[in-house]
Amino acid sequence: MTRVLFVCLGNICRSPTAEAIFRDKVNQAGREADFEIDSAGTIGEHSGHPADGRMRDHASRRGYDLTSISRKIHPADFDRYDLILAMDRENLVDLRDICPPEHRGKIRLMMNYAANLGVESVPDPYYGGSQGFERVLDLLEVACEGLLRELTP
Ligand code: 4NP
Repeated sequence: MTRVLFVCLGNICRSPTAEAIFRDKVNQAGREADFEIDSAGTIGEHSGHPADGRMRDHASRRGYDLTSISRKIHPADFDRYDLILAMDRENLVDLRDICPPEHRGKIRLMMNYAANLGVESVPDPYYGGSQGFERVLDLLEVACEGLLRELTP
């Protein structure tokens, strides 16, 4: 069992999308029993709310159902999860700041799993237009594929 936690700022756009795409790929591979998958935000601003409606619309056009409810990352998450995947460098820095030293090795940038794209971060789509949401989906589809490949024995 591998426990994977996707993290962005608000947990209403990028990390819920990563969670849904990765779950979809895991299900397609018939490997549901091998993974625990969740997402969280570094801020609690949107806690208790569903994913951003714009993000849900764009995701649903590609067949992904974003069902997660926003929550802030909790200290216990660093112990529970094996991989904690930051969407951008700001998320990475914020996570490292609050992570107990013994668990820091679990924190990575999500786009490391799509090295061929040469992109460091999944850009925050919150204040932009529809192309930003499509870009989130494009990048995360590739990175989730790479992540599952990496976690395949
Ligand atoms: P996310 O997007 O980090 O991908 O969920 C954002 C959501 C909310 C805000 C910023 C980014 N915000 O400033 O409230």
